[in-house]
Amino acid sequence: MTQNLLHQLRQICGDAHVLTHDDPATDLSPWEQDWRKRVRGRALAVVRPGNTQEVAAVVKACAAQHTPIVPQGGNTGLVVGGVPDGSGTQVVLSMTRMNAVRAVDPANLTITVEAGCVLQNLQAAAAQAGFLFPLSLGAEGSCTIGGNLGTNAGGTQVVRYGNTRELCLGLEVVTAQGQIWHGLTGLRKDNTGYDLRNLMIGSEGTLGIITAATMKLYPLPAAQLTAWAAVPSMEAAVQLLGLAHQRLGPGLTGFEVMNQFALSLVDKHFPQLRVPLWQETPWCVLLENSDSESETHARGQFEALLEAALEAGCVSDAVVAESLAQARGLWHIRESITLAQVEEGLNIKHDISIPVSLIPAFVAETDALLAREVPGVRMVDFGHLGDGNLHYNVQAPEGADGHAFLRDFEDQVNTLVFDQVKRFDGSISAEHGVGGLKVGKLPLYKDPTAMAMMRLVKQALDPHNLLNPHKVIA
Ligand code: FAD
Ligand code: MLT
Ligand code: ZN
Repeated sequence: MTQNLLHQLRQICGDAHVLTHDDPATDLSPWEQDWRKRVRGRALAVVRPGNTQEVAAVVKACAAQHTPIVPQGGNTGLVVGGVPDGSGTQVVLSMTRMNAVRAVDPANLTITVEAGCVLQNLQAAAAQAGFLFPLSLGAEGSCTIGGNLGTNAGGTQVVRYGNTRELCLGLEVVTAQGQIWHGLTGLRKDNTGYDLRNLMIGSEGTLGIITAATMKLYPLPAAQLTAWAAVPSMEAAVQLLGLAHQRLGPGLTGFEVMNQFALSLVDKHFPQLRVPLWQETPWCVLLENSDSESETHARGQFEALLEAALEAGCVSDAVVAESLAQARGLWHIRESITLAQVEEGLNIKHDISIPVSLIPAFVAETDALLAREVPGVRMVDFGHLGDGNLHYNVQAPEGADGHAFLRDFEDQVNTLVFDQVKRFDGSISAEHGVGGLKVGKLPLYKDPTAMAMMRLVKQALDPHNLLNPHKVIA
C-alpha cells in the first residue's frame, strides 16, 4: 500500500520531488528536524509539489490511503508545528517550490504570491514595485508567506501594521478533501458569510493547505529612523511607549524591549555587533519612526520625543542611528537574541501576551516566583512591547546541562508562567502558535467553550484528521 502511494506521489510531482529514506544518499533531516532541535521526526516521504493542482492531487492520494500530511514552509517555526512525528507514516508537504510572485496590482495596493515564497523575496518584490510589504521577522530570509499565514506571524512592525492576518486579503487553499478553494480576492470589504480566510490563518496547517495569498501593500515611507534607548525599568519602558504613541502617532512602526541579560548574550556570542548602552541599564528599547514627509521631519519628531522622555526620567540615555547602515546594525542586534540563546544552550521559550499596562507587574512577580522555584534561573526577556508580547524566555542556570534542565524543569516553568499569564488576562501564545509543543497545555488555559468550538471546526473540515494531526488540538 505504501509503495503504491509513493508511486502515485511520484507520478503527480515527478521522481525528483518525492524524497524517502529508501535512498540512503538523501538526507531528510532538514524537513524532519525542527529549528530549535527539540524534536527529530521521521517522514514516510517529503513531497515537493510545483503547483496547486499537484497539491490537490497529493492530498487526494494521501486521503485515499489515510496517510497524514504535515504542511511545511521554511521550517523556522519555534513550536514543533511543521515537522512529522516519529512514526514514519506522515508525508511532509514542502511548499518551497511554489514560490512565484503571481501578480502585483499597484492601484489596488496588493500583491499575490504563492505560499512557498520566502518572506524576504516578497518584501523585495514589493519594494521593486515601489511599495512596502511590512511583515518583518528575524527568520525572514528563510520563512515563507505560507508559514507566516499558517502561524499568523507577528514580528517587529505589528504596532503599526498588525499581524500577518491583518495583511492578508485573500487565500487559495487546498482542503483536506483535495478540493481547491479559489479565494484569492483583493477585496477589502466582503460580508458574504463566514470568514473562512481568517479561519485558515493561524490554523497551523490543521484545516487546509494554503497555496497562494493576496497580501496588502503600503506606500514606502519617505524616511525611517531608528533609536536605541536605555531605560531604568519596565515601568519606564511602558511610559516611553505611551509617549511614543502620543508624539509619533502612526509613525511609530517598531517598539522592542530587551533586558540586560538578553543583550549580554548577544555581546558574549557576537561581540562584533557592538551592543550599545547595555552595561549601564537593566533594559534597552529599540524604536522606529517611519515618516511620510522627510528625514528632517522624522529626526525632529524623534529628538523631541527623546528629550521629553529624558526629562520625564523614562530614558536615561539614547542614540539615534545616523545612517541606514547604523539602523540596520541596531536591528541586527535585536534580531540576534534568538541565535545568541541557541549559542548559550537549550532554553524554554515563551511568546506570551498580556495587556501592556500589566506587563511591569507581571515581570516583577513572575521573575520572583521563578527565582524561588528554579535556583540560578536566567531570564532572557525581550520582545514586542508595543504589542504587549514578551518573549519571556528561561535559560538554564550557568553551567547546567540543558537537556537535564528541560527534563527536570520545563513543565514546572511552563505551568508557573502560564498560570501567571492567565492571572494577568493574557494569552500563552501571541505569535509562535501552539504546534506540537503546547498542545497539552492549551486546554488548560483556553476557554472550554472555545476549545469545543475549535474541535467541531476541525472535525467538520478534516473529519479523518489527516492535516497535521496532534498539532494545535490533540
Ligand atoms: P514552518 O515552520 O514550515 O511551519 C509553521 C507552521 O505553519 C506549521 O504548523 C506548518 O504546518 C504550517 N504551514 C507552513 N506552510 C503552510 C501552508 N502553506 N499552508 C498551511 N500551513 C502551513 N515568529 C513570529 O511570529 N514573530 C517573530 O518575530 C519571529 N521571529 C523569529 C526569529 C527566528 C530567528 C526564528 C528561527 C523564528 C522566528 N519566528 C517568529 C517563528 C517563525 O519564523 C514563524 O512562525 C514563521 O511564520 C514560520 O514560517 P515557516 O515558513 O518557516 O513555517
Ligand atoms: C523574535 O521576536 O525574535 C522571535 O519571535 C523569536 C524568538 O522568540 O526567539
Ligand atoms: Zn517575536
